[in-house]
Amino acid sequence: MGLETARLRLDALQPADAPALFRYRSDPEVARYQGWQPGTLADADRFIGKQSATPVPGTWFQRAIRLHDGELIGDLGFCLSGDGLAEFGITVAPEHQGKGFAREAAQALLGELFGRLDVHRVHASVDPRNTPSMALMRSLGLRQEAHFRESLHHRGEWVDDAVFAVLAREWREIAAKSAAMPASR
Ligand SMILES: CC(C)(COP(=O)(O)OP(=O)(O)OC[C@H]1O[C@@H](n2cnc3c(N)ncnc32)[C@H](O)[C@@H]1OP(=O)(O)O)[C@@H](O)C(=O)NCCC(=O)NCCS
Repeated sequence: MGLETARLRLDALQPADAPALFRYRSDPEVARYQGWQPGTLADADRFIGKQSATPVPGTWFQRAIRLHDGELIGDLGFCLSGDGLAEFGITVAPEHQGKGFAREAAQALLGELFGRLDVHRVHASVDPRNTPSMALMRSLGLRQEAHFRESLHHRGEWVDDAVFAVLAREWREIAAKSAAMPASR
């Protein structure tokens, strides 16, 4: 899966990406609400090395988010259920946050999931204290369907879980509306 947007390229993580991936993924602010945090550069190397070439249902498939010049500025991942469902997550390096990159990359990913990969429903699971991520999901047009109280045990504490989702037919409406609007961002 290789995708290109106005400012970004989404493609395979390469061994040479390990230092950049390690730098932003080990940042405590970036890792705070995430399931995976590399402790060492070797962890980042292993993470990249174990990526499959194509999505395998039931496992996370991680892609690089790059500027057109190749610089790694983040990564995103999705997990296909194998029966029409998918979950996704996204990370942008701190120095590149707040510039609309997550929104641009996630829109491309959702287009691919609902298009070529023919998924019926996509969801994301967000810690409600993660303000930027909650804002991103709303900005993408995902619907908040649940707020589970202390339903996950994460890093030694029970935490809430907000579930956001969108269906294929809803995504097509969102995409059609945004294509009809003048480019404002
Ligand atoms: C969540 C994250 C990916 C957002 O990345 P980003 O590139 O800064 O997001 P964008 O610039 O595309 O912004 C998307 C929307 O969220 C809003 N937003 C972003 N950061 C925000 C913040 N700190 N407070 C409030 N709103 C915020 C933006 O205004 C934008 O909304 P708009 O389109 O209505 O203007 C980034 O903060 C991150 O990597 N966090 C750490 C990793 C993480 O927790 N990931 C979530 C796992 S699902």
